[in-house]
Amino acid sequence: MMDAGRHPNIELLTYSDVEQISGYVGNFKARVRKRARFVNEKECTACGDCVEVCPVVVRDGFEVGLASRKAISIPFPQAVPAAYLIRKDECLGQNPIACGKCAAACEKKCIDFDMRDQIREIEVGAVVVATGAEVTDPTSLEEYGYRKYPNVITSLEFERLVSAGGPTGGALVRFSDLALPKRVAFIQCVGSRSPRTGHPYCSNICCMNTVKDSLLIKEHDPDTEVDVFYMDIRAFGKGFEDLYQRSRGMGVRYLRGLPGGVREDVEAGNLLLRWENQEDGGGVEERPYDLVVLAVGLEPRKENEKIRAMLSLSKTSDGFFLESHNKLDPVSAPTRGVLFAGCAESPKDIRDSVTQAGAAAARALALLGSGKISIEAITARVDPDRCNACGLCAAACPYHAITVDREKGIKAKVIEAACAGCGSCAATCNHNAITARHFTDEQILAQIDAILGEDPLQNILTFACNWCSYAGGDFAGVSRMQYPPNARLIRTMCSARVRPDHILYAFRKGAPVVLLSGCHIGDCHYISANHATLDRVERLWKRLERKGIRKERLVLEWISAAEGKKFQEVMCRVEEIRRSVTPEEVDATKGALAGEKLKVGA
Ligand code: FES
Repeated sequence: MMDAGRHPNIELLTYSDVEQISGYVGNFKARVRKRARFVNEKECTACGDCVEVCPVVVRDGFEVGLASRKAISIPFPQAVPAAYLIRKDECLGQNPIACGKCAAACEKKCIDFDMRDQIREIEVGAVVVATGAEVTDPTSLEEYGYRKYPNVITSLEFERLVSAGGPTGGALVRFSDLALPKRVAFIQCVGSRSPRTGHPYCSNICCMNTVKDSLLIKEHDPDTEVDVFYMDIRAFGKGFEDLYQRSRGMGVRYLRGLPGGVREDVEAGNLLLRWENQEDGGGVEERPYDLVVLAVGLEPRKENEKIRAMLSLSKTSDGFFLESHNKLDPVSAPTRGVLFAGCAESPKDIRDSVTQAGAAAARALALLGSGKISIEAITARVDPDRCNACGLCAAACPYHAITVDREKGIKAKVIEAACAGCGSCAATCNHNAITARHFTDEQILAQIDAILGEDPLQNILTFACNWCSYAGGDFAGVSRMQYPPNARLIRTMCSARVRPDHILYAFRKGAPVVLLSGCHIGDCHYISANHATLDRVERLWKRLERKGIRKERLVLEWISAAEGKKFQEVMCRVEEIRRSVTPEEVDATKGALAGEKLKVGA
């Protein structure tokens, strides 16, 4: 941070909020609110005279409430700039001026109660989202007694306790009597890998954090007994296994199985931890401890929603930001020019965060350094002669890459640098005025014609999105999973490219069954485009029913790239449906749809 603060090409905007970002790759505009510090940060020498006279004492958030601070303070010891700031909502000297003691004590006259927030408009070519994550609050897990028993603490509180700069100067004490704990228990996976807490994912950092903490305790006092209760230890990084073995070698006991509950033994003054001893077959036991540390997991920050809306980002089902491609492009967001670093994208440790941050910086430099960007050849194109400026395409675009003004009659225009080529706009347009290059209606219809050409009753016509379902099919294939050989796939970039009329056209051509498959909701490669798929299919099901066509013949399935098995199962199920369709039913469908005026294939 200090290096960044001193770098001539880096401007640090601390104590600031990004309020708005608009534009697209190479042309982002950010509105930043630089909050008033009420202290001239250039003049402040951090002498601390102001702090001594400040009468307002509040809980210190950086110390997770284990220590106090004044209304005028430095946010944390290593903060850059190392200058004080006054919290407006805490200071007595604000409106009306009732205190002003800090201003009187400051020899350099740095205190300025008239300072106001400043709004900065900044133009940038790329944006790195590095907003981090939050630790899970374990209060709702009542069985562990957090906030009920003073000697049950979180791993973050433990970190502050053993930190030399922390509230106890590095002394590990328990809160009830400030005595040195002689028996310490760590409970792993608190709030992680638990559908009950809404966090079914592994938080990645807790195992090794506990291993490190156990070593710290042993280094402080080798006689302290340390037990770690775990599901499994994930020591997968470089040097991690060594560290884990070192911890075991120093006498830390790793006990498989998570405790069912913690209760206080008031007479003995300690905590009793109920646990099923699976290893020695000892059954359910209660073990006494002086201190219980809950290894809490990570969760996405609540503010992520605001950033997601500003930058048109997607989230994965766990709530972290979705990267462009899990394996091939884990640094970029699907929105071009937006990059990720650290836990905003997924829980990760320092080493992985630093690696991703370096990669994000390099990507941003490569993008800005070249002065131009290459555009995918699959972007959307508008035919102005057909466009009537209705604006449906702009509303359907998850990237806000289409400009149109219905009131003024300004026709749709695609910002090619921002278009990702999902094709959702083309599936929405009622006038065939917009199409996705290389995935045009003509190309899709030609594939439907080819599949249903000779004996339409024999084939399973499948639309599969490029990123998930098509890859899932690929995975099933390379894994030698057997699925019906009559499956015929039409690849589109996103399931949202498929318009209802493509499906009706297929039924009119004699398709016994149509499978439309895409990424799971929340995992679409094009932010939220597959929500439109779901909407369209739900409306189409109703339309089919109104026409007397069995809605089961249109199957919608979400299949991820890793779900080869699911792809196989879905295909087998769809084959069953195909077999149930008789030639008479197909003829009846053709008859029912004969009068339909389709917007494609006319
Ligand atoms: Fe798969 Fe959108 S990319 S459904």
